[in-house]
Amino acid sequence: MNATAEVLTTPHIEVRKMDFSFDQIDTMDWYRGNPILTAFMAVLSGTFPPGEQMFIESVRHYKDRVTDPQLMEDVKDFTRQEAHHTMQHLLANRKLEELGWKAQTIEKRVAKAIKLLNAKRSKRERLAATVCLEHITAIVAEYVLKHPQQLEGMHPSIKYMMVWHAIEEIEHKSVAFDVYMTTGGQRKTLLRIMRAIAVLFPTLTIARTIYLLWAARRMPSWAQTKEAWSMLFGEVGMFTCIKEPFKDFYRDDFHPEDHDNRELIEKWKAEIEAWKAT
Ligand SMILES: [Fe+2]
Ligand SMILES: [Fe+2]
Repeated sequence: MNATAEVLTTPHIEVRKMDFSFDQIDTMDWYRGNPILTAFMAVLSGTFPPGEQMFIESVRHYKDRVTDPQLMEDVKDFTRQEAHHTMQHLLANRKLEELGWKAQTIEKRVAKAIKLLNAKRSKRERLAATVCLEHITAIVAEYVLKHPQQLEGMHPSIKYMMVWHAIEEIEHKSVAFDVYMTTGGQRKTLLRIMRAIAVLFPTLTIARTIYLLWAARRMPSWAQTKEAWSMLFGEVGMFTCIKEPFKDFYRDDFHPEDHDNRELIEKWKAEIEAWKAT
């Protein structure tokens, strides 16, 4: 096993059973009253169920080749966490659809795109795509937890679902990577696939946000457009802040645990436990 194939210590992966209720969301623009921000979050929520199913399946193909006992356990917990995220997002998406956001259409379109891609790509490439997307998910999760002001003005049930999801994405962020590397995956394949995903993922997410706004016949005001631009592309906007941690992926010795977020998730775990108790 070479240095890059070592299984580094990961934070404990805890599978939390959550049961968010989205029934009380009674306003269409539940994120700051801003349709662009709400549509953007609805797109992410619609993307998660088919995306996470792909992650689970791509890791499962290799689980019998994993020999490290801790990693074997981590694969099981990764699967349970992702399956539970899917369940909660499916419920959220049903509510979003009721409100007029076509989150279930996004689910279907993403599922179709994944099916088409799977037919053309090898199992190794599918696992590599999962590794890349798990890196993006983890750095977005880190961003969300480091910038709690971005969660202000979001309906609490969605806010805490995103916080819970972010904590667990950070907890299991190295599992797909470790499975990939310890079963003979090549970094050059990861880099090739990441170059495509780095263009496709933000482009499709923005295009789908525009589609959701069009389908809901929502025309944002100039002030709402400026607010959304600032929160996504401004000085402390999401796309701006994830650039640096994103680039680390291209380092020859990169490992997801190089970004140590243990303290960050400890802080938020207490908050999510308090939310669970309410
Ligand atoms: Fe997830
Ligand atoms: Fe994940």
